[in-house]
Amino acid sequence: MAITEELSALRDDTLAAIAAAETTAALEEVRVAVLGKAGSLTGYLRSMGQVPKEERAAVGKAVNEARVAVEEALGARKATLDAAELDAAMDAAAVDVTLPGRVQQRGTRHLINGIIDEISEIFLGLGYSVAEGPEVETDYYNFEALNAPADHPSRSMQDTFYVLDRSGDAARVRGESEVLLRTQTSGVQVHAMEDQELPIYVIAPGKVYRRDVADPSHLPQFHQIEGLVVDEGITFADLKGTLDYLCKQIFGPERKTRFRAHYFPFTEPSAEVDVSCGICHGEGCRMCKGTGWLEILGCGMVDPNVLGMSGIDPERYSGFAFGMGVERIACLKYNVPDLRMLLEGDMRFLRQF
Ligand code: DAH
Repeated sequence: MAITEELSALRDDTLAAIAAAETTAALEEVRVAVLGKAGSLTGYLRSMGQVPKEERAAVGKAVNEARVAVEEALGARKATLDAAELDAAMDAAAVDVTLPGRVQQRGTRHLINGIIDEISEIFLGLGYSVAEGPEVETDYYNFEALNAPADHPSRSMQDTFYVLDRSGDAARVRGESEVLLRTQTSGVQVHAMEDQELPIYVIAPGKVYRRDVADPSHLPQFHQIEGLVVDEGITFADLKGTLDYLCKQIFGPERKTRFRAHYFPFTEPSAEVDVSCGICHGEGCRMCKGTGWLEILGCGMVDPNVLGMSGIDPERYSGFAFGMGVERIACLKYNVPDLRMLLEGDMRFLRQF
């Protein structure tokens, strides 16, 4: 076969292969096979020297025509395949704007903070102010100034966590008041009596700590709300009226209160307050362990000795104090059987409040 015929056959085969290439990669293979270093058409271009002189012009023309035709076809096919591949890539990466979005879960105030707010509002309405005290406290404010000196038996019920200084010494070693995590908000009473003008009408919500293992009715860290009133002519009747009002505000107007004699070092007389059971209304049930009553807080008339230690004249002034556990109130109000449920962060539980 004459070279020019070979060339036209090669050109036709190549144009057919170009038209049949479905991807840019397949097209590139065709290009390399024909026009690459070892390509078939390149071979003809290289061997022009061996072509007899008289045929050289005709063969050269045919090789060139074949090269131009192949290059044009390659270019056109590449443009078509590039565009198709870009379209496919864009389709694959497309975002479906019609898909529904993911709903963000909105948080709510935690039940414990909700109860603190609710009780604070009740007392703000009675003209009280809200005070805060330090969670890291000295032994003096947590115990001593509340009539519980170092050897007082009531301390054994409120063991806590002690804070050492950098050398590892307890403050006691240096003859100073020991530093501890407060076991009760009652120390804020002492700060209020030292710092505020009389009369005092104050509540103090806050965190407290005890060396207790968590169980359905104990937590090593929980919240209390303390109350303190110091004024002229304050009597136990004021205390009763205030706490009865508080219970009716928290639990509902049909609930009754009762005061049971009790002991606290810093109040005299002291009492524990019970509210009538909201499940059985006093009949006795499992919630109230058959008694018809639920214990909700401790209270009493501020011991004159406590007033005196904080520089207040007990001959002229008298006062009352009370303290309640916020987690306990939350559980009683909503019939939660285990204090630990308040801390587990389970949204199914928390969302209910
Ligand atoms: N601080 C006491 C406790 O943690 C509760 C308490 C009882 C507070 C009587 C008071 C009070 O202010 O008068 O057990």
